[in-house]
Order: sequence, then structure tokens, then C-alpha cells
Amino acid sequence: MHNMRIGLAFNPFPEAYARGEGNTDKYAEFDSMDTINTIKEAIQSGGHEVVLIEADDKAYEKLRDSKLDFVFNMAEGYHGESRESHIPAMLEMLRIPYTGSGILTLAIGLDKARTKEILSYNKIPTPKFQLFKSSDEPLKKGMKFPLIVKPNSEGSSKGITEKSLVKNQEELRRRVDFINKNYNEPAIAEEFLDGREFTVSLIGNPPEAMPIVELAFDKLPPGVPRFDCYEVKWVWDSPGSEIEMVFCPAKIGKKLEDRIKKMAIDAFNALDCLDFGRVDIRLDSKGVPNVIEVNPIPGLMPDPKENSRFPKSCYAAGMTYSEMILRMLGSAMQRVKNTKIKQIEGVNQG
Ligand SMILES: Nc1ncnc2c1ncn2[C@@H]1O[C@H](COP(=O)(O)OP(=O)(O)OP(=O)(O)O)[C@@H](O)[C@H]1O
Ligand SMILES: [Mg+2]
Repeated sequence: MHNMRIGLAFNPFPEAYARGEGNTDKYAEFDSMDTINTIKEAIQSGGHEVVLIEADDKAYEKLRDSKLDFVFNMAEGYHGESRESHIPAMLEMLRIPYTGSGILTLAIGLDKARTKEILSYNKIPTPKFQLFKSSDEPLKKGMKFPLIVKPNSEGSSKGITEKSLVKNQEELRRRVDFINKNYNEPAIAEEFLDGREFTVSLIGNPPEAMPIVELAFDKLPPGVPRFDCYEVKWVWDSPGSEIEMVFCPAKIGKKLEDRIKKMAIDAFNALDCLDFGRVDIRLDSKGVPNVIEVNPIPGLMPDPKENSRFPKSCYAAGMTYSEMILRMLGSAMQRVKNTKIKQIEGVNQG
């Protein structure tokens, strides 16, 4: 499987905007060219040729004309609630195999409410929730404050600030309104879990769990929110910060470790994720793990000081960054090779 021509699909973060500076969170999901170039070098170290493909409105022509054998898909997409599935949809039209989850999983993964419906159906614990298209909608019976209010279809803690944690109807309405207007999408309100928070990186088919990462909010100064809001993610937990709050492997007993890893694998499977992914998990007040969300395309910032969750757990498992990328790619190539009913052939093509 060497010497393939591999497209690396991505959306670049405009370097003019520093993350976390509070000016805009519009680009927070995208990758820096530093990350993309490091992924490129990692793929090249596996003996492959790499073609960079920006996932913009010329992407289809570029994918069609670049004579690609495979695509490493990092594209978060530019427009719409199903934006993460745009590149995979083009690739399936072109019959080019790619890394990671398929179209449906990527579209659902960006919809926190749909993801939670699937988790619930599969009896995987997840906080109670309600979706709000407008702030006039009454709160369902049985939903208990405090609630956390988030945009339903964003990642990278976009739209999540200290104001997201609401203690009463008035705060709830104000925050729902803010999300509806600023992000032009429904807000999801969830019961707030105040226990320890973990995230689990998974690689392979079936997935193998890497060492668990803990986000230790108790290490933050008083007054800073006890959840991974935009400020915590991009300021308190950034390379310049003096505070260490992300630990791997998490210091937990074997029983809880096994329970969390199994829950992450169950969530990965319930969403039909492929090759790799990251599952965010938090304990409730009784110490019971709950799945907060599933990330089929996890962030992959290479600098260990960034504490990017997925690489951090792979480093703890003894991998270098290149080994991590080649293992992600290798899982995808192996899957495509083993798939009897080839997903990329299309059922109606005889
Ligand atoms: N129901 C909840 N109870 C407690 N904390 C929560 C809850 N939902 C979200 N949080 C906190 O907010 C953070 C961000 O939420 P979430 O993971 O849903 O958003 P995201 O922006 O999609 O994150 P990512 O950067 O992983 O894509 C979580 O890591 C957690 O700290
Ligand atoms: Mg998350």
C-alpha cells in the first residue's frame, strides 16, 4: 500500500485571526497551515505523495482532476449544518476512498441533538436535553437547572462561554436568543453535569481506546467556569498559559477507566464511526459517566503544548505524531481493502 497519491482535504484557519482573542470564533474549527503541513509530512514519511486540497467551492474539480488514490479528510466544511459531509459526498461520487467516518455519520456528528437521540436509543447515558428554535418555547417538564446552552451544530467550543451555564428561565431565554441570532441555528439546552470530565480517543475498526485524557477544571483559578468553554479551551489551556489542566493518562481507578473506555467504544459504534474519533464524557453528580458528544474528525494540533486531545492521548500511548497519522490512514486503507460490499462502488452500478 505504499507510494499512493493522497489528497489532504482541509479548511485553513486564517492566520490573521488568533484563536481565543475574543474577536471572532468564526474560524475556530479550522486547521492552521502548521497542522496541515505536519500531517502532510507525516503522510509523506509513509512513502506517499501528498496533494493539498482546500475544501472550498473548487474542491470538486480539484478532487476529480488530481488523480488521487485516497484522501485524508480533515475538512470541517464552510457552509451549512451538514458541512462536514460535503467532501466525503464528492469523494463518493468520484469513487475515491477516504479516511474516517462516512457522510451520514459526519452530518449527524455535527448535530448534537440527533447524536444524543441515537445514544439514547442505544441506552448510552447522555444528559437530558431540549432543542430550542426560539426563546419563546417553554422548558419541558423534568428539565432541571442549571442547564448548559450550546449552539446545536458547532464544535471547538464555539458559542460556549461563562454565560452558557444558566440557572433560571430568564438566563435560559437570553442565552437561547443569543445562540439563535448569532449562530442562526437551534440552541441545545442540556442538564449540566458537574463531575470530572474525560475524553477518549479511538483508532481502528473495531476501535481501540487510547489512554484517557482528563480536563481538570479544579486546577483553574476561582471564578473561571468549570467547563470547557471558549475561554478555557483557547486561553487558560493554551501554550502560553501557566496552568496545567489537561492530563493524560487520567488518574482514575481501573474500574472507572474500563467503564469510560467501553462507553466511548459503544458511542463510536452507535454512530457508525469509522477509523478514528473522539468521545467526550463527563461524570454526573453520582459519578456515572455520560456521553456529551462524539467527534468523528477530532482536532489534531501537533504541538504538545496545545494539548490537542487526540494527539495527546496518542503521545501517551507511545506514538509520535507521524505514527499517529499513519495509523489513522492505515486503519482507513485496511477497512477499504477489507470491505466486501465496497461503499465506494455504489449499490446501483452493477
Ligand atoms: N451537559 C453538560 N454538562 C456539563 N458540561 C458540559 C455539558 N455539555 C457541554 N459541557 C462542557 O462544555 C464543553 C464543550 O461542549 P461540547 O463538547 O458539547 O462542545 P464542542 O464545541 O462541540 O466541543 P469540541 O471542541 O469537542 O468539538 C464540554 O467539554 C464540557 O466541558
Ligand atoms: Mg466537545
